Amino acid sequence: MGARGTVKRVCLAYSGGLDTSVILRWLIEEYGCEVVAYCADVGQEEELDGLPEKARASGAVDCVIRDLREEFTREYVWFAIRAGAIYEGTYLLGTALARPVIGKHHVEVARQTGCDAVAHGATGKGNDQVRFELTYRALDPDLTVIAPWRDWDLRSRTDCMAYAQKYEIPVAATVKKPYSIDRNLMHISYEGGVLEDPWHAPEESMFIMTSNPEEAPDTAAEVLIGFEEGTPVSIDGETLTPARLLHRANQIAGVHGVGRVDMVENRMVGLKSRGVYETPGGTLLHAAHRAVESITLDREVMHERDRLAPRIAEVIYNGFWFSPEMEALRAWVNATQRNVTGEARVRLYKGGLQITGRRSPFSLYDETLSSFEDDAGAYDQSDATGFIHLVGLRLGGRR
Ligand code: ARG
Repeated sequence: MGARGTVKRVCLAYSGGLDTSVILRWLIEEYGCEVVAYCADVGQEEELDGLPEKARASGAVDCVIRDLREEFTREYVWFAIRAGAIYEGTYLLGTALARPVIGKHHVEVARQTGCDAVAHGATGKGNDQVRFELTYRALDPDLTVIAPWRDWDLRSRTDCMAYAQKYEIPVAATVKKPYSIDRNLMHISYEGGVLEDPWHAPEESMFIMTSNPEEAPDTAAEVLIGFEEGTPVSIDGETLTPARLLHRANQIAGVHGVGRVDMVENRMVGLKSRGVYETPGGTLLHAAHRAVESITLDREVMHERDRLAPRIAEVIYNGFWFSPEMEALRAWVNATQRNVTGEARVRLYKGGLQITGRRSPFSLYDETLSSFEDDAGAYDQSDATGFIHLVGLRLGGRR
């Protein structure tokens, strides 16, 4: 924690919302330091126009905005798809994947603007504080970290509003948000409010990226997803940049109500939390990727992958993106993906999806071998007699 007085210039992860506007001012008051505002665009679709002016009006000496949408998708989302990383079998890691790229650039901007400290607006109960701070630690252990939510005596939104009023901080008169929402190009997450009761079903009006499956089109859609070495590269034959591809996948799957998840998950900090997620494009791409893998991965490699995928998801979830274990796991995943090139055909219909075809120039699937028809001697069925006898020896009986 930053000793007040020793910090001269703080780089604050800033969104222009109530919390980070109040934090900006609080840093100036408490630490007597300068504040540089930093805003990462990871596709949260918030208004970025006028943000620098707003930051300055709140007292910032500078404001840096970075468009990270392509990097986020290419380096983080695509890796999770290549790895099949899904936390607790359900959560596609939308927030967890964005934190390290936001943190990495936070460190860079802090250095470039001569800051000796970084600050973020994550609370003391969540995973995000852990993810940000592990990233800072891995990339620049000398930076002082300030986490006002764990530090100050503001306890509620009302306290923040009062603070804003007292210091004449410009905040839009927004109504209280019913949920804690985190949005980026990959997903939207909803937590808190009425969702805190794990038995309370989410209201239909909450959802933004996906249509209600019951009201989705009555005709199914078919979409072709192309992969190169495990990375999504095209939709319906059209090559797209990572961010554009993910955006397109979100639209296609979202219209058909695909990608909603409602779960109770285990947070890293030791508590259970109920979360609802919309990850339309991610759901589609994970399924399509697995379909291409089904014909291009060797059986043992695939089964090894299935053992490691939950572990990779856990590493990502827990915020250890920049770690020695992740480096090793990344190399492993890359080695498995060399031949994962090809296409999957996916059918989308009222909240569900099915794979209806897969093909690849590196397919290991041998129609002749697998066929129920005459295989022209490629496979001698009588070999199976001795094979089963040997593997069954230890189960007893005699030949
Ligand atoms: N529970 C999810 C995670 O830990 C989503 C967190 C959303 N963050 C937020 N500040 N609302 O990845």
